[in-house]
Amino acid sequence: MVSDKELEAVEQIVNGVITDESLAEGDVLINCLHEIQNHFHNFVPLEAAEKVAEILKVPESSVYEVLTFYTMFSVEKRGKYVIRVCNSLPCHVTGGKEIIETLKKELGCDFSQTSKDGLFTLEETGCLGLCGVSPVIMINEEFYGNLTHDKVLDIINNIREEERG
Ligand code: FES
Repeated sequence: MVSDKELEAVEQIVNGVITDESLAEGDVLINCLHEIQNHFHNFVPLEAAEKVAEILKVPESSVYEVLTFYTMFSVEKRGKYVIRVCNSLPCHVTGGKEIIETLKKELGCDFSQTSKDGLFTLEETGCLGLCGVSPVIMINEEFYGNLTHDKVLDIINNIREEERG
C-alpha cells in the first residue's frame, strides 16, 4: 500500500520529468518509471504506475507494457540492492559458477529471491557486455568484474557495513 505522501512524491517525480526539455516525448514514460523505481528502491508499486498513467494521460496498459517488457523494471518489491549475475558462457567458464554459488550461500537465497534482511535481490542475466573482465555481476547501476569468491564476499560485506552506518 502506497501512502498519500509517497503518491505525492510520485507526482513530483513525474512533473519533474515532464518539464525536462532535453527529453524526447517517447522517453518521458520510461524516465518517469526509472526515477520512480529508484525512489522506491528497485520496484514500481502498482499504485505508482497508475498515478503515472493518470498524470501522463496514457492508458494504464501502456505503463504495464513498459514495466513488463524491460527486465530492469519490477512491480514486485525487491531488495535495496539488485544483484544481476551474468550466466552467459564466457562468464560461466571463467568462474561464474563459483560466483553464483558464493552469492546464493552468502545471501541465503536463490535467483529471483530477496535475502532475509531485505537488502539484496539476486537475479540472473545474459551477457552484460563486459566479457573481457568476466566473471561479471552488476549491483544496481554498477558493474564488478574479474570476480573471485573473496572479492564477492568483500563487496557484499562492504555494502552491509555501509548500511549499518
Ligand atoms: S558473458 Fe558475462 S559479461 Fe559477457
